[in-house]
Amino acid sequence: MATIGSVVPFLILLAALFVTLDPFSLSPIAGEKHFKVLSVPQPSLEVLASIPRDEKDTLKNAKLVYGGQILGPESVLFDSHGRGPYSGVSDGRVVRWEGPEKGWVEFATVVSNRTEICNLSNPPTPNLKYEHLCGRPLGIRFNKEGDLFICDAYFGLLKVGPEGGLAEVVTNEAEGEKFKFTNDLDIDDDGTIYFTDSSTKYPRSKFFFPIMEAEETGRFLKYDPKTKETTVLIKKLRFPNGVTFSKDHSFIVIAETRIGRLIRYWVKGPKAGTWEHFVWLPGYPDNVRTNPDGDFWVALHCRRTAFDRFMNDYPTLKQAFLKLPINQKILYTLFSGKPHAVALKYSADGKLLQVLEDRKGETTKLLSEVEEHDGKLWLGSVLLPHLAVIDKP
Ligand SMILES: *[C@@H]1O[C@H](CO)[C@@H](O)[C@H](O)[C@H]1NC(C)=O
Ligand SMILES: *[C@@H]1O[C@H](CO)[C@@H](O)[C@H](O)[C@H]1NC(C)=O
Repeated sequence: MATIGSVVPFLILLAALFVTLDPFSLSPIAGEKHFKVLSVPQPSLEVLASIPRDEKDTLKNAKLVYGGQILGPESVLFDSHGRGPYSGVSDGRVVRWEGPEKGWVEFATVVSNRTEICNLSNPPTPNLKYEHLCGRPLGIRFNKEGDLFICDAYFGLLKVGPEGGLAEVVTNEAEGEKFKFTNDLDIDDDGTIYFTDSSTKYPRSKFFFPIMEAEETGRFLKYDPKTKETTVLIKKLRFPNGVTFSKDHSFIVIAETRIGRLIRYWVKGPKAGTWEHFVWLPGYPDNVRTNPDGDFWVALHCRRTAFDRFMNDYPTLKQAFLKLPINQKILYTLFSGKPHAVALKYSADGKLLQVLEDRKGETTKLLSEVEEHDGKLWLGSVLLPHLAVIDKP
């Protein structure tokens, strides 16, 4: 027994060295020299407990549409003539639904030399390897003139005319720093564009790292089409994502994904130019959209888990844990649980009005946007090969 007793501390030392040095580069963060986990501010358990669940699993009754025809429709949009939906998809194109006969038709591309390496595989699987060559359109919005503005994760803020075609770059840097992960936008009545760059440290193909680190290099920006100037409005955000104007255009709601909250930036009134915390969310949001009533629909990628909550408080432990040779997919499940769907509706003053879920992800999951249009909710997903639709409950 004495020998085992002396061997145990040695094994612990060896394990500690293994974790620290990762000699075989087996850990998910191997090769990321500047990877540094931060602690994350969190809502109290009381705040979270006050947010109801959808015991009826309303979203289980959603209908999946266009299965296998598109991959990763992150944002969903209709134009002023009612045409659509339009969506930016995984193969780098913005596509438009033109009815059952024509199906999904290419509307815009973001690179001039789109080649076959960009095409969807069969069955469709994410094309992370070539996204930086083909583009990855995320948030899309029309201005009053019918021009489509596109936040492409790799190429910045782009624009294409009402007839579509090859989009041109509007802006791709601010304060001498290139955008690395342009994500979502909204447009003011005077044409000014407000948008997010989720990270200045990692591109979208490495989204695992900014999420795990909870790093704070995200920016909220403004582009003025008259002066052609790009201005940084907020710095040090943790994965800023969805952007939407309030119905009266007095403020903008921004989804700060890695903190799991909405913040608001004032455009008009006495607080113009300042921002504040708005709403704690029960999970991690993607896009946020304003409906015709002036309420905000928030799509959650996933709810908070106990494991994530614990790790958010102990960054050093989390950093060590991430040096273990554990596969990224397993880590993803540990931190975010089995895929499920959550959509939340808030009033203009931040009151929770409705919670819609598919708690076990039986029909739909991993939502990236809720777009309310003609009495229906259109549910986008940055990962799945379909859209989901449900009559507004
Ligand atoms: C487009 O051209 C550039 C420059 O020649 C090349 O690096 C890139 O791979 C091409 N893109 C695609 C999608 O083939
Ligand atoms: C790739 O997609 C383009 C349309 O974007 C199409 O014209 C071409 O035939 C496709 N190539 C292959 C090999 O499927």
